[in-house]
Parts: sequence; C-alpha cells; structure tokens
Amino acid sequence: MPSPDLQTGSSLAPGTVLAIRDLKTHFFTDAGIVKAVNGVTLSIKEGETLAIVGESGSGKSVTGLTVMRLLARTSARVVGGSITFRDREGAEIDLLEVPEDAMQRMRGRDIAMIFQDPMSSLNPMFTVGEQIAEPIRIHKGHNRRTARQEALALLREVGISDPERRIDAYPHQLSGGMRQRVMIAVALACEPRLLIADEPTTALDVTIQAQIIALLKSLQARHKMAMIFVTHDLKLVGEIADRVAVMYASQVVEEGPVDAVLSRPRHPYTKALMDCIPRRDYGASGPQVLKPIPGLLPNPLSPPLACRFHERCHYAEPRCGEIEPALEAVAPGHDVRCLRWREIAL
Ligand SMILES: Nc1ncnc2c1ncn2[C@@H]1O[C@H](COP(=O)(O)OP(=O)(O)OP(=O)(O)O)[C@@H](O)[C@H]1O
Ligand code: SF4
Ligand SMILES: [Mg+2]
Repeated sequence: MPSPDLQTGSSLAPGTVLAIRDLKTHFFTDAGIVKAVNGVTLSIKEGETLAIVGESGSGKSVTGLTVMRLLARTSARVVGGSITFRDREGAEIDLLEVPEDAMQRMRGRDIAMIFQDPMSSLNPMFTVGEQIAEPIRIHKGHNRRTARQEALALLREVGISDPERRIDAYPHQLSGGMRQRVMIAVALACEPRLLIADEPTTALDVTIQAQIIALLKSLQARHKMAMIFVTHDLKLVGEIADRVAVMYASQVVEEGPVDAVLSRPRHPYTKALMDCIPRRDYGASGPQVLKPIPGLLPNPLSPPLACRFHERCHYAEPRCGEIEPALEAVAPGHDVRCLRWREIAL
C-alpha cells in the first residue's frame, strides 16, 4: 500500500498543500489514446520541494499542466483521479471541479507555473514589465507605480542586468536565457503558495542557475511556498529537493525522501537513472562518462499491462511481463512500484 496520506479520498493530511490521487490524463488523437498520465499519485506539503524526474515523454509536464488546468480541452481529458489544493485560508479545493473563473483567479496568486518553453508563455504584445506588474496589480491590489517598482525588484532578483532599461523591452528583444528569467519573475510575482517549476533552469548557465535556485529557496523560507521542481538533473535534485518522485511511462515508479531514494534506490529504473549521471573519468583524457539506459519507453498508445519497465530491466523475470505492479511502501513515506523490490539488491 502507498503511504497513508495518499490513500484516502477524504481531507488532506496536516500541512499538505496539494494531493494528486490516481490521476489519469489522456489525449484523444487520430492515432489513438495517448495515456500521458496514467495513475499518478503525489502529495506535497507547505515549504517542501518535490522533484519530479524521468526520461523525456514520461508525463512530467502533462502532470503539471493538469494541475494548472491548462491543457486544451479539445484533445486532453482527465479520465480519472482527483487533485485537491488547500488555499491560504485552509479551504480544500477540488481543482478538477472548480469553475474556470475561480481557477483563473487562483492561477498566479495561489498556484503558478514556470513553463518549459518560455516563448510560448510570454505574450509578444506586452513589455516584460507589464507582464510582471499586471498580476501584482490584480492579485495584490497595488497601484501601477508600486507594481512597477515590484516588477523592477523581481527582474533584479532573477539576475537581469540593467533592469531599468529591460523592464520596457518586449520578449523578442531579449535573449532566450533572459526570457526564461522573466518567466520566473512572472511566476514569482504574487508569491504563490505552490510553484510548479518545469525545468526552470535548464537553459541557463551555472551561475544564473545557482542564483535562481537561491531565490526560489529564499521565497520558500519566507512564504512556506511548496514547490514541484521538474528536472532531468539528479545532481540538482540532491541539492534542492526534500522528496523525489521518479516517473516512468506515465506513472510514478518510486517516491520518497531524497536522501533515502538517492542513497538507496529501490526501483531498478531509479538506479538506472542514477547510473546515467555524468561522472569524470579521471583515468581517461577528461571526457564525461555516460551510461545510457538501453531501449526505449513503451509506446504510450499501447503500454503493456505489466511492469512498464520490464523490457529494459536488468532484473526482469517472466511474471514482470504479466503482472502490473502496484505502488507499495518500502518504508514510511517511501513507495516503490516493482514486483521484486524485496528480493533485489540494487
Ligand atoms: N498535446 C498532446 N497531444 C498528444 N500527446 C501529447 C500531447 N502533449 C504531450 N503528449 C504526450 O504525452 C506524453 C507525456 O508528455 P510530457 O510532455 O508530459 O513528457 P515530459 O515527461 O514532460 O517530457 P520532457 O522531459 O521531454 O519534457 C508523451 O508521450 C507526449 O508525446
Ligand atoms: S517489476 Fe520486474 S521488470 Fe519491473 S522493475 Fe521490478 S524487477 Fe524490473
Ligand atoms: Mg516536459
């Protein structure tokens, strides 16, 4: 059985800001049904950072976009599960049922997202200053002058040089790295209770990355902001997250405290991901040693009704290709989806 605070469909555990239970988000395409998220269960508490890792196409962004209710209703449909959010007043809100106008008020103020693609989320028609100041005026009720001052301070905090000039620039006048930082400023403008950061620093150089991470951490400390941090970088996970969820083929296959998962992974896929972390091979002439996981993710149109990792798993045995593993608790707050976790030593 998974950890206790994820089992019930009733109220949230104390301190929990968001609980996603058995979420299923499917795309109805001409080629068939893409089960992009298929039974994801996660929860996050105030002030906590939950990292989500997993190969490209495993369902990380679709999970975040489902929470934000930003998927096009024409093709995407939530066909199962629930998402419950606790607001600042302590009210529990069913995010899949709340009317669109209420959801619009919550976006930015209560839940914000830093999108993987900065260009698609900034409006080309407005200056970056207007795009940061607008939510500050709407949600915090500040006048234009104060909102602009706050926007300026945020631009400075996310490491934009010469912010007094850049505040009046349009997105296309900025470099990709600067647009990414503007988007981070937009997401942080209203000090949301939950921030979903979808690979927020991937495009940035190491110095700016460290600056952004420090900014996110200080906001967390000040406002007890909860953060879902999507990344491919397991080293970064070790540095910033409290908990980590490993996604594979639309499901969470392992979730638990970062120290426990990274020091002793219990799922063969987590172990395989960790073996991919570049290491310096000091014996050779300097190049980084990468050990890719052989094979590919299963086809999302027809995932196997079995362990989804079985075709790539070093530890697979015949029953792995016949039985779908459930999430089981290996320790309090540490869950794994593998039939053999008790017997295999990773
Ligand atoms: N609009 C869409 N229509 C159909 N399929 C989609 C759509 N958006 C995403 N998918 C599919 O859903 C699955 C999950 O995609 P998602 O973008 O969540 O992956 P991801 O884990 O964020 O990957 P990455 O690390 O590359 O960002 C993939 O198979 C993807 O092709
Ligand atoms: S269930 Fe079997 S195939 Fe799947 S991860 Fe565990 S050992 Fe590997
Ligand atoms: Mg993504």
